[in-house]
Amino acid sequence: MDESLGTIIASEGTPSTSDFSFVLRKPVNKGQYVQVSRDSGLLFGYVSEITKANRYFERAESVAEFEKNSGMESNFPSSSWEYVIALVKTLGTYHDSRFMRAFSPPSPGDKVFNADNNVLRSFLGFESQGLDLGSIEHHDLPARIGMTRLLQKHLAILAMSGAGKSHLTSVLLEELLDREKEQGRVAVIVVDIHGEYGGFAHDAGYGQSTRMIDGKDIAVPLRKVSPEMIMGWIPGLSTPQKDVLRHVLVKLKKNNQDSGGYGFGELVRAIDESGISREEVKRALKRSLGELRRYRFLSTKKENPRFISDIKPGRLMVLDFSTIDSLRKKQILVSLVARKLFNLRKKGKVPPFLLVIEESHNFAPQKAEERDAVSRSIIETVAREGRKFGASLCLVSQRPVNLSTTALSQCNSHIILRVTNPNDLEHIQMSSEGIDSRVARSITSLRVGEAIVVGSAVNYPVFIRVRDRKSEKREKGAPLHRQAVDFESIQAKREKAAGAFL
Ligand SMILES: Nc1ncnc2c1ncn2[C@@H]1O[C@H](COP(=O)(O)OP(=O)(O)OP(=O)(O)O)[C@@H](O)[C@H]1O
Ligand SMILES: [Mg+2]
Repeated sequence: MDESLGTIIASEGTPSTSDFSFVLRKPVNKGQYVQVSRDSGLLFGYVSEITKANRYFERAESVAEFEKNSGMESNFPSSSWEYVIALVKTLGTYHDSRFMRAFSPPSPGDKVFNADNNVLRSFLGFESQGLDLGSIEHHDLPARIGMTRLLQKHLAILAMSGAGKSHLTSVLLEELLDREKEQGRVAVIVVDIHGEYGGFAHDAGYGQSTRMIDGKDIAVPLRKVSPEMIMGWIPGLSTPQKDVLRHVLVKLKKNNQDSGGYGFGELVRAIDESGISREEVKRALKRSLGELRRYRFLSTKKENPRFISDIKPGRLMVLDFSTIDSLRKKQILVSLVARKLFNLRKKGKVPPFLLVIEESHNFAPQKAEERDAVSRSIIETVAREGRKFGASLCLVSQRPVNLSTTALSQCNSHIILRVTNPNDLEHIQMSSEGIDSRVARSITSLRVGEAIVVGSAVNYPVFIRVRDRKSEKREKGAPLHRQAVDFESIQAKREKAAGAFL
């Protein structure tokens, strides 16, 4: 039986080494991968356009004339003369399990077949043990992307709001949690801005591997915080203020080797009592430190999470920041967590990890002043140096234009979902390798849950349909209509109670 999709035709300078056209026997889709058997190996390509032709409708004047009377259909067998032509862009020749450029064109008359899954897998660079993020469009082939290729040099997930970034992130988390020890498991830490990942903790399958931490409960003992970290959180301290801070923190640490710890009270007292510097310097320093005190995460003893014991391979830690209002506090906590993780990883005290940052343009903003971007420098540092140490970032953003270009350019893999804003699109095109104008155009027409993977994760940009999630979805915030109904019924009860009282 002829399994071919169609036959190559000679037209307008094709077949050439870069393009060929074939007339269809069976339906094909734009974007579908096809192959042609040649002596030199398999010629491999994708359908870049599909056109229809019918010679009965080529001449405007005769069509117009016949349509005036009884119509083309009643005079000619025109419907049986419609044919469909697919234009193919050649991607290479596959021979002996290797891809090469195509050095000679196929011949008119050659049969075109649907791409073989094994060839396609090898062409795209999928791995049998890779992370199953979905399937590639028009082919029954799971998009199994190698973990190292996807994450080692960091991943950016970019799309407009509602395109499916958090859904994709959840799928990625599931795949990471599902891995066996022998496959290599990383610890995963998610900075969850909207409380969207809580479902993992309640899920029958993933609950055991998940730990939820309310952002308000994050605490780090003052003795575990270096003067440099504090200076990073409150940029703009003068040199004398920094001297005092360094002096008293070193002294507190030295004097409290054996005691349980020290907190803000001791810090302020130590500043007052320190012999160095002028009173107004100390006063200004205390005023600046007051902000950190208000954020209530620097403790005397309490440590939550306990990085060394709580960060484990194959486990997920969700930091739920939805309970924190202040962006500055969130930035400070991201900076704290990222710095701790990175330093401990360099010393080998925590396993290789993936740090997922939702709304990452708020934590590594491109334009903001240093004071409004206290987590930017550590994110950029991990982006630059992390891969050597097994410290990976996944930056999720709906405003890539506002995301630090230093951080974004270090993300070697990008997964892009639907984007329609031209500025964002242009920025993505500039910062992602392998996005030509054809791919850029298709990004605007992606539907929710469809994505394109580019960069070091794959050999060639590939469109995928993100799979359904296995884990429980539990978002904070009831649907709008529910909230509205609840509000009115509570109001009605109040009014009734007030009426009864009168
Ligand atoms: N691949 C998919 N399959 C099925 N449903 C999906 C898929 N991707 C996204 N959705 C659904 O679309 C909606 C929006 O997805 P999601 O919350 O992931 O978007 P987002 O890009 O994170 O948006 P935001 O920018 O607002 O955070 C959700 O209800 C989600 O369940
Ligand atoms: Mg989201």
